[in-house]
Amino acid sequence: MKTLHFEIHSPENDDISKVASILKDGGIAAIPTETVYGLAGNALKGECVKKIYRAKGRPSDNPLIVHISDISQWAPLVKSIPESALALAEKFWPGPLTIILPKSDIIPTEISGGLGTVAVRMPSDEIAKAIISACGFPLAAPSANTSGKPSPTCASHVTEDLDGKIDAIVDSGECSVGIESTVITLATDIPRLLRPGGITPEMLTEVLGEIEIDDAVYNKLHEGAEAASPGMKYKHYSPDAKVLIVKGSFDNYKKYIEDSAEEGDVALCFEEEVKQLSIKCITYGRKDDPSSQAKNIFDALRKVDEEKAKTVYARFPENEGIGLAVFNRLVRAAAFNIIEV
Ligand code: TXA
Ligand code: MG
Repeated sequence: MKTLHFEIHSPENDDISKVASILKDGGIAAIPTETVYGLAGNALKGECVKKIYRAKGRPSDNPLIVHISDISQWAPLVKSIPESALALAEKFWPGPLTIILPKSDIIPTEISGGLGTVAVRMPSDEIAKAIISACGFPLAAPSANTSGKPSPTCASHVTEDLDGKIDAIVDSGECSVGIESTVITLATDIPRLLRPGGITPEMLTEVLGEIEIDDAVYNKLHEGAEAASPGMKYKHYSPDAKVLIVKGSFDNYKKYIEDSAEEGDVALCFEEEVKQLSIKCITYGRKDDPSSQAKNIFDALRKVDEEKAKTVYARFPENEGIGLAVFNRLVRAAAFNIIEV
């Protein structure tokens, strides 16, 4: 398949309607959002949704997020919208929050991976909103990476994984958040955070009162355990190299590397630290700036692969606020390998 490439930097660009035509004809296209690039298709057509799974190589029991551009598109997708959901939407939409509710009958089974619920999000990215509006229907969109690879935060990441497998790729530059949306379910008695992201637990608690944080946010699922968010059970964001998170002060991290690193190994550290380390460094943001870490972590994990390193020594991110999301992604890339020094 020949993939068409568009460069769009304004919601008024004429190519928006070309991309919408591709989607209206049942095609699939990678589009920007403020979190990561998404691989979009008509959310109301099972056969479009199937194409998305195929292109990504994604297991069919891992459900997709449905993207809307107007609040009026939400009600038809779900059984009902409780007060708590409206309060969240009012505060955080458009933006990096995904809300799960019991699904209505118009949601194809392919999207929900056999669950009785559907995840919905209204992105804030202007190009994403313009494309959804031009389509006139909601778009199913998982991250536009090959399943298991780091999520794409610029169009070249998408091209690396999916060129020749999808109808179009829209390039609008780097994503501003850089980590996928926060996912919360309101289909449980107490609202439950399934995936941390740009909207932090503290921000959610302010609106909802009590929330629970799913075990899988911090910990590896036990063999055979049922995942509340099926995405959490799959191997994720994994570079080919072995990633080891080294938790401790910078001095101890440096010493650990000096004692253990072998030829060709890489340090995954913060920008300010490069000059003090004697091995090849790939940086993921600035030291006391979790937002910059979120924005850079996926690109850094892709660069690690380009280096063909055997072992990658990663700095431990501060795991609070948006840092919790950074930690959650990095610890999966490291297959939960953490060493305290
Ligand atoms: O920021 C984002 O959320 C990006 C952009 C493109 O919007 N999308 C994204 O989609 O990250 P994806 O498919 O890579 O991740 C969706 C996550 C998965 O972990 C999936 O298991 C979970 O949300 N999910 C989706 N629907 C669900 C449902 N009904 N119940 C539980 N988990 C669900
Ligand atoms: Mg994904």
